[in-house]
Parts: sequence; C-alpha cells; structure tokens
Amino acid sequence: MLILGIESSCDETGTALIDSEKGLLAHRIHTQIDMHRAYGGVVPELASRDHIRRVLALTDEVLEEAGKTRSDLGAIAVTEGPGLAGALLVGISVAHAIGYALGIPVIGVHHLEGHLLASLLADPAPRFPFVALLVSGGHTQFMRVQKFGSYELLGETLDDAAGEAFDKTAQLLGMCYPGGPGVSALAEKGVSGAIELPRPMMHSPDLNMSFSGLKTAVLNAVTKAPNPEDPQFRANVARAFVDAVTDVLAAKAVRALKKTRLNSLVVAGGVSANKQLRARLTQEVEKRHGKIFFPPLSLCTDNGAMIAIAGLKRLQAMTP
Ligand code: KG4
Ligand code: ZN
Repeated sequence: MLILGIESSCDETGTALIDSEKGLLAHRIHTQIDMHRAYGGVVPELASRDHIRRVLALTDEVLEEAGKTRSDLGAIAVTEGPGLAGALLVGISVAHAIGYALGIPVIGVHHLEGHLLASLLADPAPRFPFVALLVSGGHTQFMRVQKFGSYELLGETLDDAAGEAFDKTAQLLGMCYPGGPGVSALAEKGVSGAIELPRPMMHSPDLNMSFSGLKTAVLNAVTKAPNPEDPQFRANVARAFVDAVTDVLAAKAVRALKKTRLNSLVVAGGVSANKQLRARLTQEVEKRHGKIFFPPLSLCTDNGAMIAIAGLKRLQAMTP
C-alpha cells in the first residue's frame, strides 16, 4: 500500500510517500521561515496562503521522485491538529479532495502522534514499549507508549515548551526566529558555568517541568549585563541556557525510565534535533544500559513522513 502524508499545521508544508513494504520513498519540506522572519514569528494568514501555493506541487514532486502517479495511492494521511486553523484546513481540504477523486481513505493524524512515531523511520527503529520525550515548539511531554495508539501522559511542562524557551532566548540574544538552531550553535562557543541559570523543577519528584522562569532568568542576565552585545557574553548566556534545559530534560528522562521500569527512550519533536540534547540524553541513557532513539535529523521538525507513518500504522491497526 502506498500512502501519501501531508503536514500543514504551522510554517512547514510537508509531503511524503511511504510504501508499507519498502518504507519511506520520498519526502519534501518547504519551510516558510524566511517569509515569517520579518515579523519575528509565524503570521497565520500568510502561513495558510503559502500552504495553498505549495501543497499540490510538493505532492507531485514526491510522486515523481518515487516514480509513482496519483492513481498508485492507496490512502492519504493528513495532520488534523493541533495547529493553526487556517493552515490545517489547507492540508485537510487537499487531502479530502484527492481522496474523494481517487476513492481512497483519508486518515486524520494528531500532529504529536506523528512526531512520536517519526522515530519508527530511524534505523534501527525502536520497539514498543518505550518512554517518549516530545520536545517541540508547543509541547514538552513525557509519555509511556505501550504500543501503537496507547499513549499515557506521564508529565509535561506547566508553562512554556522547551522549544518556545529556545525561541524566546534567541530573541533576547538578538537572533531571528526560530531560535533553536541559532542558540545551539552559539552555545558551542560559550563557557559552561560562566553564567548560572536556574533549573526549574529539576528536583521535583514528578515528571512535570517549567521553562518560563528560565526565560525570565535569561532576560535578567541580559538586562543586567554591562555589555550585552559582547560576543563571548552572548555565547555564555546561550551555553548556560542550553546546559539548564538539557540538565532538566536529562534528569526527568532518567526519572521517567525509572518510574516506568522501561529501558528505551524515544526523543521526538523539533528540539530533538538539538546537538547538545542528543549528546546529553544519549550519555544518560547509555549509563543506565538503556536504548535511545531519535528520528533522522531531517524528520525532527515538522514533515509529511511522520504523518504518513502514523497514518499507515492506524490503517494497519484497523485492518484485521
Ligand atoms: O516540532 P516543531 O518543528 O514544531 C512544533 O510542532 O512546535 O518544533 C519547532 C521548535 C522550535 O521552537 C525550534 O526553535 C526548535 O523546535 N528547534 C530546535 C532546534 N531545531 C528546531 N531547538 C533546539 N535546537 C535545535 N537544533
Ligand atoms: Zn511539530
């Protein structure tokens, strides 16, 4: 069965083709980052209009790359939420129009389930059950994933998501949106310990987190600095921020593995592309002789492949 995945929940238009036997055949992502950058964040109306411009062209591109035509499609998976209403509507409308024309099923996929299952496209792929850490621009959650479709929320951020904290820190350091990759690169030049930032809720016995205080601490550090433009100071702030976030996520990840008595950790969502977080979590999990899985780097941020794989899993679960 050939399944087309469509993602349009925010500022990336993603399409992908997955063959149930051969795996991922092709995927394309068009990012709108350059378009939104001038506004310092995503402008929903512009996002929707750009998805309209891209989605059919990107669908044709993946079909062409895989040497397939629309009539080869057996099903379509599309992000049904959460996300920007207008942006979602573009993907959903296109998916239903193609599905109606071809007489094939259209499966609505939860965006976070897509992120979570993107690691099934990694080699090696994780096996159920596992603990999932979802770290994106909108969510930071620990889940127990018993099997496909069985997701138990173990804990989550009580305020800002980790990705949001990256983006706000980037803004305070004068960097453009989205901030994650920039803060991460700047942190490489910073000195650990040169600036101290808090690790909110790191020692709380639960699996909840909080990142808004960290953002305020960065704001205080920047406003009190005699020379906030100094390149080494900026790098030290970025380093301190990355160290604080990775310390909290690593401590909570270990706690989640202990609590669930599971030994596999799957990390997903845009922040799972972060170099320092990948290294730190790998170190902690391997220390416990556990296994850690990340999606391929190109599938960490929003993409159509994660939606296609989630749709395929749903179809397979529905077929006896
Ligand atoms: O999963 P995603 O693409 O969109 C949402 O569903 O939210 O995540 C986007 C978030 C942004 O906050 C972005 O700054 C962050 O992921 N991000 C990173 C990196 N790449 C993307 N954060 C830290 N390091 C990165 N390399
Ligand atoms: Zn996402």
